Amino acid sequence: MNFLTKLLVLVVLLCITGLIHGQNLSDVYKLRNDILSTYDKDVVPATDQSQPLTIETRFFLVNIAMFEEISETISIIAAIELKWTDGGISWQPGDYGNKRRLTIKQGNIWTPPIMLLNSIDELRPFEGEYEFMATLLWNGTVEWGPGGVLNAKCTVDISKFPFDSQTCVLQFGTLGLGTEDVILVTSPYQQPLDLSFYTPNANWKLESYRANTIADFSIGYSVFVVELTIKREPLYFTLMVVCPTLLFGLLNPLVYLLPVESGERIGLSMTILLSYAIFLTLVSAAIPSSSNPMCVLLIMMVVIIFVSGLIVTSVIIISALHHRDESRR
Ligand SMILES: *[C@@H]1O[C@H](CO)[C@@H](O)[C@H](O)[C@H]1NC(C)=O
Ligand SMILES: *[C@@H]1O[C@H](CO)[C@@H](O)[C@H](O)[C@H]1NC(C)=O
Repeated sequence: MNFLTKLLVLVVLLCITGLIHGQNLSDVYKLRNDILSTYDKDVVPATDQSQPLTIETRFFLVNIAMFEEISETISIIAAIELKWTDGGISWQPGDYGNKRRLTIKQGNIWTPPIMLLNSIDELRPFEGEYEFMATLLWNGTVEWGPGGVLNAKCTVDISKFPFDSQTCVLQFGTLGLGTEDVILVTSPYQQPLDLSFYTPNANWKLESYRANTIADFSIGYSVFVVELTIKREPLYFTLMVVCPTLLFGLLNPLVYLLPVESGERIGLSMTILLSYAIFLTLVSAAIPSSSNPMCVLLIMMVVIIFVSGLIVTSVIIISALHHRDESRR
């Protein structure tokens, strides 16, 4: 085939596809009007109103913005993709120039009020004020993916700091719509938690994650549970806190190796005690101050300073005994 024939074939192909997908803007306006003129967005649009509406959920983790041990909160950026069949929407693509999908703002149709149930902010649909786009298919399938900042309560166990990992559970539910209205499920074909848009955090590594839906008929709510386990990157704290602490702990007993005659014992043990106290004031701000349970490292530091004090006392007593006047008893 020479170049001209190829061009001709291309033009013919373009014409045919142009005829098949002949939708123009007035088709789309007409479609939107036809769909929404009889639509009521206050009603849960289950096709069979004796059955709850099944909503497929999928969680997209975007990043872990912040984790605070003291206030026990985790801030993440995330989106949830929801998919359901709206009984009030359907059209024949042939009537609208073969238009098979329509993307409109969420405010035009019914959308489920998905809320983070263990939020530390007020309970409200988590897309907030922003109106996300919803995609409608000709057979009634609706796809909608709201997202935003989520601040959740997360019980923190700091005892193994800085080698700790924390597990945070995010619970999403449709408050106000019970299992008789809406059931949340996960897709059988796709992973319920997706990391395609994930940006790693420098201080926290995502160790494991899980997502699942639970329909609790006794409480009457269907909940989408996302579990994230994050592990602290310990290098900084190991270098800046753990190593010096161990060093001070080892340095302390070495005082006894000095000969008593040299008179340096008291000086050295006092120096260690003082420098350790200064070190403590510097690093204690970096260690999460939580009492239940308390950080083992912090307990170790307090023990070391206590032992330091005992060593100073013992060194003074030993030296006093050593230089005691031999004649006195
Ligand atoms: C759009 O297409 C329809 C037929 O599908 C046609 O009747 C109408 O005139 C077209 N409108 C415009 C603005 O081209
Ligand atoms: C509607 O069409 C989409 C794509 O063609 C399909 O995945 C979906 O299962 C259909 N929904 C129903 C209720 O038939």
